[in-house]
Amino acid sequence: MTVDVRAWRGVAADDDAERTVAEAGDAASVVRLQASSRWLLGSLLRPHRRPLLAVVVLLLIQNAASMAGPYLVKLGIDRGIPPLSGGRHDATVLVTVAVAFAVAAATEYLTKRGFLALSGRIGQTILLDLRSRVYDHFQRLSVSFHERYTSGRVVARLTSDMDSISELLDGGIEDLVLAGLSVISVAAILLWLDWPMALVTMVSFPFLLVLSRWFQRASARAYRRTRETVALVIVHFVESMGGMRAVHAFRREPRNQEIFDAVNDDYRAANVKAMRLIAIYAPSIKLVGNVTIAVVLTYGGYRALHGQTEVGVLAAFLLYLRRFFEPMQELSQFYNSLQSATAALEKLAGVLDEPPGVPEPADPTPLPGVGAGDIHFHGVRFAYRGDRPVLPRLDLHLPAGQTVAVVGATGAGKSTIAKLVARFYDPSEGTVTLDGVDLREITDDDLRRAVVMVTQENFLFSGTVAENIGFGRPGASREEIEAAARAIGADAFIRALPDGYDTDVRKRGGRLSAGQRQLVAFARAFLADPAVLILDEATSSLDIPSERLVQRALRTILADRTAIVIAHRLSTVEIADRVLVLDHGGVVEDGPPAELVAGGGRYARLHQQWRDSLV
Ligand SMILES: Nc1ncnc2c1ncn2[C@@H]1O[C@H](COP(=O)(O)OP(=O)(O)OP(=O)(O)O)[C@@H](O)[C@H]1O
Ligand SMILES: [Mg+2]
Repeated sequence: MTVDVRAWRGVAADDDAERTVAEAGDAASVVRLQASSRWLLGSLLRPHRRPLLAVVVLLLIQNAASMAGPYLVKLGIDRGIPPLSGGRHDATVLVTVAVAFAVAAATEYLTKRGFLALSGRIGQTILLDLRSRVYDHFQRLSVSFHERYTSGRVVARLTSDMDSISELLDGGIEDLVLAGLSVISVAAILLWLDWPMALVTMVSFPFLLVLSRWFQRASARAYRRTRETVALVIVHFVESMGGMRAVHAFRREPRNQEIFDAVNDDYRAANVKAMRLIAIYAPSIKLVGNVTIAVVLTYGGYRALHGQTEVGVLAAFLLYLRRFFEPMQELSQFYNSLQSATAALEKLAGVLDEPPGVPEPADPTPLPGVGAGDIHFHGVRFAYRGDRPVLPRLDLHLPAGQTVAVVGATGAGKSTIAKLVARFYDPSEGTVTLDGVDLREITDDDLRRAVVMVTQENFLFSGTVAENIGFGRPGASREEIEAAARAIGADAFIRALPDGYDTDVRKRGGRLSAGQRQLVAFARAFLADPAVLILDEATSSLDIPSERLVQRALRTILADRTAIVIAHRLSTVEIADRVLVLDHGGVVEDGPPAELVAGGGRYARLHQQWRDSLV
């Protein structure tokens, strides 16, 4: 169990984009992270400059109104009550003070309301903006990024990180700023009211300072731990739910439950630890505050008795002290939300900084004329990671209109070639060109229109069958969609579905069989009508009659375009003009199928084995 959990920990932390300033290894990346999260914050706030100014003004007024309370109490006691005001009996003073108090209370009510409404609106707009930016960026990032950055982590970014920021925006910031404001203004007012008493109050400062410093350090550590552990919980949750079929098929439930229990318990323990810190800090601050109040009461009472200060000043002092210590206790909570929000912002900034692996060209070259589909690999070397090239050096020319079958053992690099043509990756060295233009210089739109790949794992989106075929070519009419389905022989099965073309395929096309999904994907590709069509094991899930049907259709579909057909079943290969036999990323045989069979080489042997398997 421990081994598994450790492996899971690795999943969450093995990426630079995952690091925060606190976790970054070197000074350079700290500077980079801070700069990029500051930039992100600036770009999020900038559009709201005016409303933010209004928010600050509202906060200042609110603070002033709330500060007026104790001072008015002092005036009321010292000036309004006859024995204390030297025996003069004047009700107007007391009435004036009472009215002023009511006005202050009303002002505080209104400004707080206005502030909450306004800041709530700004906060939600900022979150909306941030979420859509992150989502957009995640979509743009290359396939290789997503292979590294698991979907659980994507979910963690979009949920728990967003929540931390939202928690801070919904109230955290207000309390933080108000607490800071009131601590400063209370200190100033106390000094002004009665400075000897204020100095006595300040004896508590060193204690507050030491306590806060300790709390800050300890909670930083504790909160980092809770963030790491919650990320693990989410990652494990998402990954295991995503692989539910495999989980059931291999009876992985108990094992997964064990891992989940372990990360879940880690999360609980981390939270308990963080809460224990608050359990020490908040009451300690309260204790310091109460002791200070006792001292001030004693010293202030002594001064009042000796006529060195007024009773009202003492009362105001005690009221102000409450407003001094209470926000201090709360600061501890905000400090934590501030910290997790900062960390979340850093992580999101890290993701947003991640450059797309296959960037769109800044200065694209338009494809010449109607895309012919001539593909050329010039000295291509490619490795998924590190220095173990899957394709050591590939020079290959696929003339426009040719149907090329690629065969070879499992792991030989067939799909890799297909993925390079579709530009899921860029070659480490050399270039791949389409009609003489480097793929790196073609816009995504042009490339997606020119090159379409159909694979084994056909992903359908939630929606109807017609919609799933239709997004092969945005704007296609219903007739065109049905014609495409007819052309590849999918029409019959689609009409037999409960709602025909309007049947909802549900999540990932779960309502259809694997073969039916492939037929839908074929129809989609046919509708897209690309110059280059790549079929990677695209007929592997079809039964023999369906495959025959597709093959017959393929002859027409592939007739006027370049096609790369990857298949283990050689029946599919027979329609090809040319066969490439791949071994360890290199082409070992190349020629028309009939010639290769006659030549008696590797393809001839494969072909013989396949024929034998048929009888
Ligand atoms: N995303 C990836 N990251 C790292 N290595 C990969 C990745 N995809 C493939 N590989 C490796 O690259 C090599 C070639 O893989 P490729 O998918 O091109 O093989 P293939 O010829 O299509 O095999 P198959 O017939 O099984 O589909 C394999 O050794 C594989 O382990
Ligand atoms: Mg493959």
